[in-house]
Amino acid sequence: MQTVQIKIITNRKRIKQLSDLTVEFFMEMINQVDQKMTELASGGKEIPQELAERKLFVDRYRRMGQARDLGIDPILHNAPLVMVFHSPPNPSTPKDDCVIAAQTVVLGSMTMGLGSCYIGLLTKAALDYPPLQEALDLPPGNTVHSVLVLGYPKLKFQKAVDRNPLTVQWEE
Ligand SMILES: Cc1cc2nc3c(=O)[nH]c(=O)nc-3n(C[C@H](O)[C@H](O)[C@H](O)COP(=O)(O)O)c2cc1C
Repeated sequence: MQTVQIKIITNRKRIKQLSDLTVEFFMEMINQVDQKMTELASGGKEIPQELAERKLFVDRYRRMGQARDLGIDPILHNAPLVMVFHSPPNPSTPKDDCVIAAQTVVLGSMTMGLGSCYIGLLTKAALDYPPLQEALDLPPGNTVHSVLVLGYPKLKFQKAVDRNPLTVQWEE
């Protein structure tokens, strides 16, 4: 379908704006979860599974707000470049296409000595938070399916982290 589009942002102020709006989204989410939990508790009602699952992440999100208040960028990690992979809706596989494009950039950039990191937190906020959607200024109707930050890494890993064995079933 070839509908993948990429927005590349290098302006420091813009990167900070996107990071701040993402933190803001998660802070609002915490408030909503807290409010809902209090309402349910005071009404003696059972907490639905979805809300209980969200509550699991609340402490992590709270730390995000604390980091932001300390001047740390907990979302885009002060990266010098952000790539937003987005697409208009199409009846095929726009999300897969964006993720394949992003992973191709991950591998290609590695050969150029660059490091990268997926930023699922921004992808999530971009789906659900209108102020961030406005700030991203993508063509109307487009959806963000993947976000990467790139930069020259400060650290050099001496060895790979141990990984769980992959589950593979061979069929004869
Ligand atoms: C889909 C996806 C989304 C991610 N989102 C974030 C993110 O929002 N912020 C972040 O710092 N790292 C993010 N990461 C990076 C992970 O936190 C982790 O550093 C990375 O996956 C390497 O660890 P692994 O090899 O064990 O997966 C993401 C990774 C993936 C695969």
